Amino acid sequence: MIWGVSGNAAGELMNITFLLNGETVALCDVDPTRTVLDWLREERGLKGTKEGCNEGDCGACTIILTHESDSQKAASAVNACIMLLPQLQGKAVRTIEGVQSAQGDLHPIQNAVIEHHASQCGFCTPGIVNSLVAAHMRGATDHDDVLAGNLCRCTGYAPIIKAANAAQAENVPEWLADIPDNLNITPNSCAPENADELAEWYMNNPHATLVAGATDVGLWLTKKLVEPRQIGFLNRCTDLQQIIERENDIWIGSGVTIDQVQRAVKARYPGFSGMLRYFASTQIRATASLGGNIANGSPIADTPPILIALGARLSLRRGDKRRVILIEDFYIEYGRQNLQAGEFIEGIIIPHQPDGLKVYKISKRFDQDISSVLGALNIIEKDGKVQAARIAFGGMAGVPKRAKAVETALIGRDWNRQTVEDAQTVFSHDFIPLTDVRASAEYRIEVAQNMLLRVWLESHGQTVSVREVTP
Ligand SMILES: Cc1cc2nc3c(=O)[nH]c(=O)nc-3n(C[C@H](O)[C@H](O)[C@H](O)COP(=O)(O)OP(=O)(O)OC[C@H]3O[C@@H](n4cnc5c(N)ncnc54)[C@H](O)[C@@H]3O)c2cc1C
Ligand code: FES
Ligand code: FES
Repeated sequence: MIWGVSGNAAGELMNITFLLNGETVALCDVDPTRTVLDWLREERGLKGTKEGCNEGDCGACTIILTHESDSQKAASAVNACIMLLPQLQGKAVRTIEGVQSAQGDLHPIQNAVIEHHASQCGFCTPGIVNSLVAAHMRGATDHDDVLAGNLCRCTGYAPIIKAANAAQAENVPEWLADIPDNLNITPNSCAPENADELAEWYMNNPHATLVAGATDVGLWLTKKLVEPRQIGFLNRCTDLQQIIERENDIWIGSGVTIDQVQRAVKARYPGFSGMLRYFASTQIRATASLGGNIANGSPIADTPPILIALGARLSLRRGDKRRVILIEDFYIEYGRQNLQAGEFIEGIIIPHQPDGLKVYKISKRFDQDISSVLGALNIIEKDGKVQAARIAFGGMAGVPKRAKAVETALIGRDWNRQTVEDAQTVFSHDFIPLTDVRASAEYRIEVAQNMLLRVWLESHGQTVSVREVTP
């Protein structure tokens, strides 16, 4: 079926082909800024996908996306409200209307939701069912994690989680086996197929806005009502989605999702991987890219302080020219990054090293919240002395920033409480934080100082859990 899509376009109109609830859809003349949610509801009348916040927070718009022949394992729950239609190119989408069979047989999750009274007003229910169906397809069973991006205000989560547990052992229904591999796709020049094509296109269109996962850019469109002149999509560049373990380092393509990063660094840097569980929600992590988190330049982005503490470098590309810089040199000042017109992040390089990394994210909620302060403390102790220290914080300055005075106060000294207390006094040499809605300047400094103490306590076997209150 071929559909035309009207609207004010940001640059080139596009051709998009994907599977929707098992049916091939070929769209022509698509406005690249059209969100999947608006299109589903307004053009297809699929109103089971709800609009709540329109900014990726509530999960009412959750749909299921698959993109490989082994679609079951690759199923992701994603937010349709901040996803742009061109991001569906070559993929398969299931909305709540496509979760049951064509004959009307309910999915085991749907049956369990009914049996366990896991819905009252029902507004959140389609999104919750879709999150649970995607998790069921992947075999994910940590339902607190699975549902962190789905807000339910009236049922309460206990019956929802009972329903999820009850359906867990059931087989994935065969009608969900979407295979989008053989779709007949018409390429669009603003959605290059690899990094070489992207480099050439971006050199010729240096003022375009690049879109990877759109979890930042989507909000500029839906909330700030920004109208970009031109958009370039990275989602077709599969070579930017590679993770390569090399002899001395690990290369992570800029288009790799936060979800994939979480798995890739788990063995080497469990502190990094563990923190990413608290990066947004399952839906956002399945879409958001590492490159987007870095390039966006937010002082409270979660991964940059960690990458600074690991001594990571960025491979930047402009046309055929590449340069490699330390990630800490990427951030010049608030809103200004070391990136030229037509230049993009190709990959992130993390050198192999002994693991001394601790990462602490302090936010008002555990799930689905932006950091007030994020500390990444990479401290190596040998024979009772601090041999090396690379420490960085987010939320403490206009950019993610290294704590050089604190590092100097630690390196070469005995790893004891006195050293820690001395180092705590020099935080104000490194940082003059701001007071804003998330935290006061005083709170930020104190919490950062206490993170250093926490590293020391943990290195002496005293586990600290901010989820527990102890006398
Ligand atoms: C509900 C919600 C919760 C969130 N929670 C968190 C959180 O807990 N922690 C956190 O850190 N962030 C959070 N974010 C922010 C966002 O998810 C991240 O910043 C994400 O990593 C951005 O990646 P993306 O691929 O979606 O970027 P996009 O939105 O596609 O792009 C972001 C910016 O990066 C640029 N860009 C993208 N790729 C490249 C590249 N390869 N080279 C050069 N420029 C590029 C784009 O042009 C744009 O300026 C949240 C967002 C939402 C909506
Ligand atoms: S409408 Fe709230 S996450 Fe999309
Ligand atoms: S059932 Fe009403 S908000 Fe969830």
